[in-house]
Amino acid sequence: MAVLHHLLIITLPLAALLWRVAEGAISVTVVSFPGPNTATPTLSGVLYLPSGYRTSTATFPAMVLMHGCSGIWSNRNVSARNKDNTPNLQNHIEKWGLKLAGQGIVALVVDSISNRKPAGVDMRDWQDQCGTADPSVDSYTVRVLDARAAYAYLIDTAAGLAPSIPSKVNSARVGLMGWSQGAQTVLTEAAESGRDSSTLRPDSDFLFRLPSITFYPGCGADLAFRTGSGSFWRPKFALRLNIGTMDDFYSDCQTRTTLAGSPSVFVGYTNATHSFDNVDQTWPTASCPSSPPPAGDTCAMKAADIDSLAFLQAALV
Ligand SMILES: *[C@@H]1O[C@H](CO)[C@@H](O)[C@H](O)[C@H]1NC(C)=O
Ligand SMILES: *[C@@H]1O[C@H](CO)[C@@H](O)[C@H](O)[C@H]1NC(C)=O
Repeated sequence: MAVLHHLLIITLPLAALLWRVAEGAISVTVVSFPGPNTATPTLSGVLYLPSGYRTSTATFPAMVLMHGCSGIWSNRNVSARNKDNTPNLQNHIEKWGLKLAGQGIVALVVDSISNRKPAGVDMRDWQDQCGTADPSVDSYTVRVLDARAAYAYLIDTAAGLAPSIPSKVNSARVGLMGWSQGAQTVLTEAAESGRDSSTLRPDSDFLFRLPSITFYPGCGADLAFRTGSGSFWRPKFALRLNIGTMDDFYSDCQTRTTLAGSPSVFVGYTNATHSFDNVDQTWPTASCPSSPPPAGDTCAMKAADIDSLAFLQAALV
């Protein structure tokens, strides 16, 4: 037992180190881009570009990543940096940014919070929108516009994601993913109708045409799409919803996706809680074995990460 413990201590950091080296040519930069309106003329974010992005003659798919109620930064610290001086983001977000870029997918992490800080408010306190979120960062309205502004930036050939070269993002191959409040943004943007309308949105209104991935959104009354009034929630394209059985919104999400049917995919994880995938910043190598039945946050995280990436990649072949 002592030997095994010792081995684990040695092996885990080494594996993490090798993985970083293997994906070492990814570029990670803090970026600014035009915001959705005059109230927010500029948004910030973190851009993960695949290795070879500058030199490739091909176009790239992209994903826009929407954070939960405590923003994108590790420890709510907008100055947080890793040892290699790249921005240090919350575990689940950074893990996905690096992994997507490692798979040849551009990843843009949107920061909906920082640029909206009122004067005189402490930045670290402002990053915490977990009580009642400030209306200026509302998940169902404002942040939907943020996601769409991020899309515009990704495909803006004039702006360019890398210095001096036009954007290489394929405008028909951009997807949206999010966690918690950010997942609510994804559910709203992905819906075939508006929240208060039974009228279907025109096809041309859908910017995000790759599958959407959501982790533990709130699916209750705040999501609107009032069942019974003719407007109910159904995504236009494939959408995967990952949530733990111990999450307060488990039943609401299960009901929403059951009503919506295909193309929504509901995956409930036994005895996992909210934020189950924040446990670790290292991409999992395998899901938990099927026996005994997987349960709890770590097994949920491994399966949700691996299977959600496969869900996305199935649309990219
Ligand atoms: C924020 O991150 C910076 C850079 O890593 C560090 O120097 C600073 O101490 C951090 N502040 C807090 C409050 O954690
Ligand atoms: C889930 O948690 C409940 C309550 O703690 C426990 O009885 C059950 O065995 C757990 N399920 C699994 C598969 O571990």
